[in-house]
Amino acid sequence: MTDGYGREIDYLRISLTDKCNLRCSYCMPREGIRHIEHGDILTLEETGRLARIMAELGIRRVRLTGGEPLVRRGITDLIKILREECGFNEISMTSNGVLLADMAEGLYDVGLTDINISLDTLREDCFSLITRSEGSGLICTLDGIDSALEAGLRVKLNCVPMRGINEEDIIPLTEYAADKGVSIRFIELMPIGCAGSFERISTDELIRRLEDRYGASTPVQCSMKADDRGPAEYYTFQEYRGQIGFISPISHKFCDRCRRIRLTAGGFLKLCLQYPDGVDLKIPLRNGARDEELKKLIADAVKVKPASHSFDTLRDTIDKRRMVEIGG
Ligand code: GTP
Ligand code: 5AD
Ligand code: SF4
Repeated sequence: MTDGYGREIDYLRISLTDKCNLRCSYCMPREGIRHIEHGDILTLEETGRLARIMAELGIRRVRLTGGEPLVRRGITDLIKILREECGFNEISMTSNGVLLADMAEGLYDVGLTDINISLDTLREDCFSLITRSEGSGLICTLDGIDSALEAGLRVKLNCVPMRGINEEDIIPLTEYAADKGVSIRFIELMPIGCAGSFERISTDELIRRLEDRYGASTPVQCSMKADDRGPAEYYTFQEYRGQIGFISPISHKFCDRCRRIRLTAGGFLKLCLQYPDGVDLKIPLRNGARDEELKKLIADAVKVKPASHSFDTLRDTIDKRRMVEIGG
């Protein structure tokens, strides 16, 4: 599928649930959210059908998100459907990792290939503060990372640095990533939903700090065509064993090479992270629409995908959905 700006759209992020076993303060309000009614959540079969239709329209990669995708019952069955009935060879997930330790092997066995795991801190008190949770969440996530690596999944870590919250974790996290042999990506906080009360740390500032510790940085020339890359830019540092990624939606927009659309758990096809625009697919699906009708709805929507976000200037156009309802 090609959008109105000539961008090839071949990557679908599927949010499987708006529920989460954590309550990260930049993602969800303290009081929680009103969840989508159970009957309004797409069934695994409905999700599978839409994914197959989108594969036929040219979607090549899928990423499962949430809320927390691992709280969705039947997730391994869906991965099987995505692999066997939709033909996806690359199936990825973004998770907080808390439930991963016991699930990683089973997920790999049915066809999951990649997992991005959120890890904002290595300190329990800070983990509790950010995730508004008590107990052993951090240890569970760290166990989950180990299990994912043992199972053979490709693992990347995600950290959203916030001034005065997890600044002191930056170096411990890069050290941890190097010890595990995985890449960590630092993500600029986007002003979506509940993120407004935190102060973003820009990529340029982070690179300066990492250079203070690890010496001069060099951008990694990506072997992939510019168009095939995700939003992260990777750097090496003179004295760092590995690569560190930076996702900079605010300071270095990557919308001109965006290839993404998103399906919410309630069956809404969302065209850009910032705007609420898109098309509802659940009602036509449940009213018996044929594949060809759904294909037309999807392809027509993709044609009007916005050119780019404008988080910095058009704040009143930001989707009222919280990040936990979109899946990042
Ligand atoms: P791959 O490129 O497939 O590895 O995945 P990813 O890094 O895009 O996925 P992940 O779910 O780990 O997202 C990391 C961060 O990038 C999250 O904060 C997402 O919200 C953000 N992100 C992902 N896609 C987009 C996008 O299209 N636009 C913007 N602005 N941010 C995005
Ligand atoms: N800005 C940037 N990243 C965010 N995430 C959640 N909310 C935000 C935000 N406002 C990240 C999570 C997770 C990924 C899906 O998105 O940390 O790694
Ligand atoms: Fe849950 Fe992830 Fe949102 Fe945190 S960032 S509340 S882990 S969905």
